[in-house]
Amino acid sequence: MSDGPELPEIARADGVAGFSYAREATGRRVGRRFLSERRRDPYYRAAQRQGLRSRAAFKLDTLAERYHLFRPGDAVLDLGAAPGGWSIVARMRVGDRGSVVAVDPRPVDPIDGVDVIRRSVGDPHLSLRLAGRRFDVVMSDMAPSISGAYSTDHARSVDLARAAFGLCATFLKPRGTFVVKVFAGDLIPELSKEFEEHFDRLVRTKPPASRERSSEMYLVGLGFRPPALRGPGS
Ligand SMILES: C[S@@+](CC[C@H](N)C(=O)[O-])C[C@H]1O[C@@H](n2cnc3c(N)ncnc32)[C@H](O)[C@@H]1O
Repeated sequence: MSDGPELPEIARADGVAGFSYAREATGRRVGRRFLSERRRDPYYRAAQRQGLRSRAAFKLDTLAERYHLFRPGDAVLDLGAAPGGWSIVARMRVGDRGSVVAVDPRPVDPIDGVDVIRRSVGDPHLSLRLAGRRFDVVMSDMAPSISGAYSTDHARSVDLARAAFGLCATFLKPRGTFVVKVFAGDLIPELSKEFEEHFDRLVRTKPPASRERSSEMYLVGLGFRPPALRGPGS
C-alpha cells in the first residue's frame, strides 16, 4: 500500500513529554467502513506514527505555517482540545517559554507544558478557571454532536464558533489571533461579518488535511481589535 502524499514531519519537539501517547478516543463506536477508510488515510497513519493523537494536528500545522499563528513564548488557549493533537502542535511551536491551556469536557491525557481544564465552553466555571490569564492565540476545533440533519449541525457549529469568540473579548490579547472551525453553510457570511469587525484580517480556509467531503472549514482572524482599540467608524 502506498504511503500517500508527502506529509510534513511535525514531530519537531521530541522533548514534549506525553508526545507518544497516541491513542484512540475512548468509548467511541465506529463502523467497519470508517475503520477501513481510516487505515488507508495517510494523515491518520502519519499522526499515529508521529504520536500526534489526531489527524487534526496536520490541519493546525498547515494553518500555523500559512498564517504564522504562533511565536515562541506565546500563550495559547485550545478549545475543544481532546484528544490533544492541536495542543501538541501548539506546544511544539510555542516552546518551553510558551504555554498551552487545553479545554474539553472529554479527557486529554497529560502533555508536558499543557494545562488541561475539563470543562465545556459555555460553563461559567471555565471563565473563573481562566480568570487573570491572557492569550496570544485562542483556537477552537470544537465540533457539535452530529444530529444528521445538516442545517441543525451547521447552526450548532456556528453557535460553538460564537461561544469561542465570546471568550476572546476577555481572554485574547489585542493584536492576538483567533482560529475557529465551523461547518460551511448559509450562516457563514453573517458570522464572518461579525468577526471581521474585530480583526485586521479574517480569512476563510480549508487545509489539505481536511477531508474533501467534510463541510468543515476554518476562520482565521489576525490582529484582534478589542472594542476599546477600535476607532469611531472602524
Ligand atoms: C474534532 S475534536 C477536537 C480534536 C482536537 N483539536 C485534536 O487535535 O485532538 C472536537 C472536540 O470538541 C469538543 N467539544 C464539543 N463541544 C464543546 C464545548 N462546548 N466545550 C469544549 N469542548 C467541546 C468535543 O468534546 C471534542 O473533543
